[in-house]
Amino acid sequence: MKIKIQNNVHRLINHSSIVLITSSFKNLENIMTAAWYQIIDIDPVIISISIGIKKFTHELIEKSNKFGINLPTNDLIDQVWKCGKKSGREVDKFKISNFSKFSGSALGVPLIEECIANLECEVVFKKTFNLHTVFVGQVHGAYVEEGTFKDTWLVDEKNLVFPFHLGGNNIIVNTPKKFEVE
Ligand SMILES: Cc1cc2nc3c(=O)[nH]c(=O)nc-3n(C[C@H](O)[C@H](O)[C@H](O)COP(=O)(O)O)c2cc1C
Repeated sequence: MKIKIQNNVHRLINHSSIVLITSSFKNLENIMTAAWYQIIDIDPVIISISIGIKKFTHELIEKSNKFGINLPTNDLIDQVWKCGKKSGREVDKFKISNFSKFSGSALGVPLIEECIANLECEVVFKKTFNLHTVFVGQVHGAYVEEGTFKDTWLVDEKNLVFPFHLGGNNIIVNTPKKFEVE
């Protein structure tokens, strides 16, 4: 039997794998943890992210019209968590996380070396709702750790474990066992 709920409705479908959004404007750079994003199209690749209007990341993307998406594996969860709990207005998150930075060759977006994949996106559309803005980005550059991806992630072969967000402080991870559906 189903029961009707009213609280945390979005968490029924919250469990996407966690990413780190990087952004910069002039000499300012930032990292923010995110789980609300969506692939919109594939040729070219278009991805949307949903960013709270008060976040420092929001301000930097508004000003620069670009952002990076960095995919962490679960061994980075402590740093990932730090980047989701403090604002870049208060702390330098590249410093507190100890992440190293490289610059994307397409748009010059700061990207995170320790993350297994990185995307550089240019904002092509945006829409603000009540508390969040959806920034829709076209991917201009994509980078992946050599040997971990061939058409899809080589989870079994490389024992890849990604963190997924259930909402609040709740995380799940994949078992590194892939299967194909007929
Ligand atoms: C696992 C996780 C997922 C998050 N997902 C989002 C998200 O998709 N959008 C958002 O606006 N904030 C999200 N947050 C909250 C921001 O990461 C957090 O408010 C951060 O401090 C904002 O940093 P900034 O002010 O430096 O941009 C998430 C936090 C965590 C821990």
